[in-house]
Amino acid sequence: MEDEILRLKSEAHVALADLGKDDLEPFRVKYLGRKGLFTSMMRQLGQASAEDRPRLGKLANDIKQELAQAFAAKQDALGGGQQGVSAVPSLDLTLTGRSEPCGRPHPVTQVMEEVCGIFEGLGFTVAEGPDVETDFYNFEALNIPPHHPARDMHDTFYVSDSLLLRTHTSPMQIRTMTEQEPPLRMIAPGKVYRCDSDITHTPMFHQVEGFLVDRKVSFADLKGVLSVFIAKMFDADTAIRFRPSFFPFTEPSAEVDIGCVICAGKGCRVCKQTGWLEILGAGMIDPAVFAKIGYDPDQYSGFAFGLGIERIAMLKYGITDIRLYYENDLRFLSQF
Ligand code: DAH
Repeated sequence: MEDEILRLKSEAHVALADLGKDDLEPFRVKYLGRKGLFTSMMRQLGQASAEDRPRLGKLANDIKQELAQAFAAKQDALGGGQQGVSAVPSLDLTLTGRSEPCGRPHPVTQVMEEVCGIFEGLGFTVAEGPDVETDFYNFEALNIPPHHPARDMHDTFYVSDSLLLRTHTSPMQIRTMTEQEPPLRMIAPGKVYRCDSDITHTPMFHQVEGFLVDRKVSFADLKGVLSVFIAKMFDADTAIRFRPSFFPFTEPSAEVDIGCVICAGKGCRVCKQTGWLEILGAGMIDPAVFAKIGYDPDQYSGFAFGLGIERIAMLKYGITDIRLYYENDLRFLSQF
């Protein structure tokens, strides 16, 4: 068998020496191909004695590799074989590389950062609080006692009798005021949770709470701060109106509308033909809240506001279904 291997070797080398360009492929098939002479000889090695088999196997392998190298060199010398049949795969250095897809912040994160950036520019500091909140911070201290009808608006996920997933970021008003003295100028961004799901509600969404407490703070200050915010967030000439409303922790309270960004106030499906879009709730902090945390309502006053990030992003970008944010569809997300 060894003789047979060596005979094949010299036969192949002789054939290789005279090879012309057109003979390259037939040579490769005959000697080096999957059904070629070397492969079939290696199959026959099974018949050799167990003692000889490793040595003969190695010999045949070495010769085959040596031949493959000599073949590749011949191929180069003859100006290359056909594409795809080369014994050594060729590398096309002129091909452009495959670029890595580049990630980017989620649209909700982008809008959150934009909102926070505007208020930071107005001197507000940023604070974050826990998602799992106590009944006291989420409701009680915000003037929403047990059985108060306002609890109905918050479809609460309870963790236990006294613990819950916060339904709004307003508890951060209480957490901050119990730890610090005025003057305070703070925003609190974060996740909030309500048991609700349709095209404008998801069980988890994001809010930014803002509040300012000092001596002689008035409703005009609230209006000034929110007007600046809306002009920066939307267009400088965006119409804005304050509508009387009710929240247990602010008195007086207002809901703030902007002129519809879709139809410019003419009336459309998004603004339900009113020309206005509600974007946030606000008001003067109720003296009853100050009393709960021990501030003197005769010395201090303050305003607060809360806005939903997903809603602002929907209005800004004309998104009609809030659930799109959380489906992880890159065709949607990569547009931002
Ligand atoms: N916490 C309210 C909500 O989630 C929003 C809100 C309204 C916050 C009025 C405020 C405010 O600070 O003054 O529905």
